[in-house]
Formats: sequence, structure tokens, C-alpha cells
Amino acid sequence: MAPPVRSVLPVVLLGCGGVGRHLLRHIVSCRPLHANQGVAIRVVGVADSSSLLVADLHSNGLDDALLTDLCAAKSAGSPLSSLLSRVSGQCQIFNNPEARTKVIDTASVLGKTTGLVLVDCSATYDTVGMLKDAVDCGCCVVLANKKPLTCTYEDFEKLVSNFRRIRFESTVGAGLPVIASVSRILSSGDPISRIVGSLSGTLGYVMSELEDGKRFSEVVKAAKSLGYTEPDPRDDLSGMDVARKALILARLLGQQISMEDINVESLYPRELGPDAMSTKDFLESGLVQLDKSIEERVKAASLKGNVLRYVCKIEGKGCQVGLQELPKNSALGRLRGSDNVVEIYSRCYESAPLVIQGAGAGNDTTAAGVLADIVDLQDLFHKTD
Ligand SMILES: NC(=O)c1ccc[n+]([C@@H]2O[C@H](COP(=O)([O-])OP(=O)(O)OC[C@H]3O[C@@H](n4cnc5c(N)ncnc54)[C@H](OP(=O)(O)O)[C@@H]3O)[C@@H](O)[C@H]2O)c1
Ligand SMILES: *[C@@H]1O[C@H](CO)[C@@H](O)[C@H](O)[C@H]1NC(C)=O
Repeated sequence: MAPPVRSVLPVVLLGCGGVGRHLLRHIVSCRPLHANQGVAIRVVGVADSSSLLVADLHSNGLDDALLTDLCAAKSAGSPLSSLLSRVSGQCQIFNNPEARTKVIDTASVLGKTTGLVLVDCSATYDTVGMLKDAVDCGCCVVLANKKPLTCTYEDFEKLVSNFRRIRFESTVGAGLPVIASVSRILSSGDPISRIVGSLSGTLGYVMSELEDGKRFSEVVKAAKSLGYTEPDPRDDLSGMDVARKALILARLLGQQISMEDINVESLYPRELGPDAMSTKDFLESGLVQLDKSIEERVKAASLKGNVLRYVCKIEGKGCQVGLQELPKNSALGRLRGSDNVVEIYSRCYESAPLVIQGAGAGNDTTAAGVLADIVDLQDLFHKTD
């Protein structure tokens, strides 16, 4: 027999794309597991870019059949509002801008009573206002979305001001416990001197393939056909996504910096950028123009017994993102394929760093990281009848 429920966690989810839908499916399929742990997750609301579907606040939340239908509708490309006919007296749909107001009202009501976890699985800067309001109402916040943590330093400080109420493990390395490891080391008083990481599966794959003497343009196209890249590979090659992760880590280490302070090396010049040519032209004629210079850098590194990696390096007061030569026999040097690798150096991990490695992307692993973050907040929630 399942033990009594100790913690009920009401959740409002912002964003039901690849990650958000996986999260809802995990929540539904993990019900028996969570029940065994005395935990119940109650999905109170789900929002996409235009609407919010919200349950009556005194009910048990949106039922699993509705959540399953919701995922199917969103997968098929329909907006949340297409579920209107399925919606009974137990829940309502609000469209923007009322949807945002309703999220904040919900946070305000539940923040004072049962508590609420506001989960951000969107990919926009637009949620930062709602998240800050939720924090003000005493709610918890869980993020897969990096953008709210990479706006102004003031916003970051505000969001993390109550560190026990926020989790953002999936923003760096998806399901890998990078943030948790950094936080544990810091709270033990062990000063972290340096973090070096390969935090893009795409760029990790590309750089390791170059070692075999393959041409950059060929490797990028192969990565695209394997589904490793964004539709426009320049979104990966610009390094901006890595820079956001680096900023989150640097801020965790106490650096009061912003995106503008990070030196980001793009792997293509402005002349080959999105303002200058289409994705198609870049793939057909732009990319090959980069082959020679990258080949030279790979060779130069190899002559010194090193390999070339696209990494973020956070050290002292600085944070850099770009190509670096690293020893062949380091964790980063040995990296093959699309894994993420992070090396953490501190007093306790001085010459031999703490290394975290594994798949650093994917809807499933990312959603699993978000779910673990939610469950990790259980002690702040008590069953109220
Ligand atoms: N996939 C991964 O491997 C991975 C790994 C680590 C972190 N992440 C992060 O996880 C987040 C989600 O990724 P994804 O791949 O699921 O993105 P996605 O498929 O683009 O989904 C984004 C969702 O957010 C919704 N949305 C947009 N604006 C919104 C708003 N103002 N309020 C509420 N919802 C809004 C979108 O609504 P519509 O459906 O109406 O467009 C969509 O449902 C991103 O921030 C991403 O960087 C992803
Ligand atoms: C994640 O989900 C999106 C939306 O359903 C899909 O387009 C994408 O291929 C998925 N990514 C992976 C790695 O499965």
C-alpha cells in the first residue's frame, strides 16, 4: 500500500513545446513512483505563447486524461485554445494578455495558501516578469529556459534571492547535475577556481570529428543531417547558447557580469551571417569558406599534442567562450561525439578536476531534469486538506 501523501506540489507550466510536453508525460507516468514517495504533483495550469489553461484552484488540478489530450493537440500543432470543447466546468482558458494576469493571480492566491511551483519551459525572455512576481508571492520557480537568468544582473539576483525556492538544473547540461555540483562545492566553502566546459552537443560533435582530418563544412552538414543542429546551424556556431550557459555558471560563482561582458567567439564571420545570406546559401557556399582556417588551427593544436575544443572557461573575474587548445589526455580532450563535459577545479579538486559528462540535450533528459527539480522542492510543500 502506498504511504500517505506528505507533499502536494501545485504546478503551473509555461511552455508546452518539446520539453514541456515531455515533462507533462513524465508527471503522468511517474504518478505511482511519486505516490510511493508520498509526493503528488498537481498540474494547475499550462500556458503556451497565446493562452493559459487553468484548473479551478480548489480542484485537484487538470486531470491526466486532459493533460494527455493537451500533449497530443500541441504535438499536432494546434494551439491550447483548440481544447476549448474538451474543457468542462473544472477549468478555463484565458488568452493573452489576460492569460498573464491570471498566472500572476494564481501565484498570488496559491503563494499564500498551498504554495506553487511556476515552471518555465518556454524559450522566451517574456516570462521574466511573471517569474519575478511569483517569487514576490513566495512561490517556487523551476527553469529549463535560460533566458530569464541571462537578462540583467538585477533580474538574476531577484530570481535567486531565495535560493531554496529556485531550481534551474536543466539550463546547463540538460539533465546533468552541473548546477547541483557547483552549488554543493560552493556551500562546503571549497572555492572554485575554474570551470571549463563543452556545453554544446553540436559543437562537441563537430570539434571531435575534425580530429580525424574531416573538413569543417562536411562535419557541420553531417551534424545537421543527424538532427544535432538547429535548423540554421549558425544558431549553434555563433556560440550564443553556450554563452548563456556560461553566464549562468559565472553568476553562480559570484561574477556580477552580463552577456556584454562575455567574450564570445563566433565560428563564422559577419559576412556569412544571417543578415548577409540565407541558411541555404550558407550551407551551399558560405560554410566551405571556413574550412581552411579551421583546418590550420586543428593542425597547429595537434603539433603541440593538443586538440581544439569549443569551450566556455570561467576563471577569476572572467568568462570566455570560444575555441581553445586543450591537452589530448584531459576529460575535454578525450571527448568524442555529442556529450557535454564539464571540468570543475577547486581546492579539493585541484589537479584532478571533478568531471561531469553525459548527454547534455534532448527533450526527454531535459524534462527529466525539470521533474527532478520539482520533486526536490517537496519539503517546502505540505499536504493541506
Ligand atoms: N530541448 C533541449 O534539448 C533543451 C535542453 C536544455 C534546455 N532547453 C530549454 O528548454 C526550453 C524549452 O525548449 P523546447 O525545445 O521545448 O522549446 P519549444 O519547443 O520552442 O517550446 C517553447 C514553448 O514555449 C511556449 N511559449 C512561448 N512564449 C511563451 C510565453 N510568453 N509564455 C508561455 N509559453 C510561451 C511556446 O508556445 P507555442 O506552442 O504557442 O509556440 C512553446 O510551447 C528552452 O528555453 C530551451 O532552451 C532545451
Ligand atoms: C524535441 O521536441 C521537438 C518538438 O516536438 C521536436 O521537433 C524535436 O525533434 C525534439 N528533439 C529531440 C532531440 O527529440
